[in-house]
Amino acid sequence: MNRTLTIIKPDAFASGKSGLILAHLEKAGFRVIAARVMHLSDAQAKEFYAVHRERPFYAPLVAFMTSGKCMPMVLERDDAVAELRRVIGATDPAQAEAGTVRKLYAESKERNAIHASDSDENAAREARFFFAESELIASLQAVPVASGLSPMA
Ligand code: CMP
Repeated sequence: MNRTLTIIKPDAFASGKSGLILAHLEKAGFRVIAARVMHLSDAQAKEFYAVHRERPFYAPLVAFMTSGKCMPMVLERDDAVAELRRVIGATDPAQAEAGTVRKLYAESKERNAIHASDSDENAAREARFFFAESELIASLQAVPVASGLSPMA
């Protein structure tokens, strides 16, 4: 088992696709380790995408990523980094294979619904960008059901 970092981007979050995308990822064998809904600040988006700062799409990318709420998540499964990239498809949805998250839910190369880490090293760095170590613990003990309450069917 290993981990990767995904972000449901502001386009997909705002249009109510986050549940569908999460279901798609869980069906593909990913387990959620940590998740958060947040609105990235300009400084956070600039830092997260610093590797792209010389690229012409950097400023519009930062503007897009700060345009609304997004949902970073740490996901776990075997071969997580490569498998997530396969499941989400190419950066440009027009090039993405049928059945991939971007083919199903992305609007364009710029508004492409979802991020995925591109290496184990970046996955670890990106997980720490959004989450504290205490949030990345593999599994906490199940909370016992209080007596008198029946578990949901
Ligand atoms: P992602 O791979 O998640 O992270 C970098 C993002 O930059 C990429 O998704 C795209 O959404 C965005 N982007 C915008 N324009 C381009 C481009 N011309 N080439 C690559 N990425 C682009």
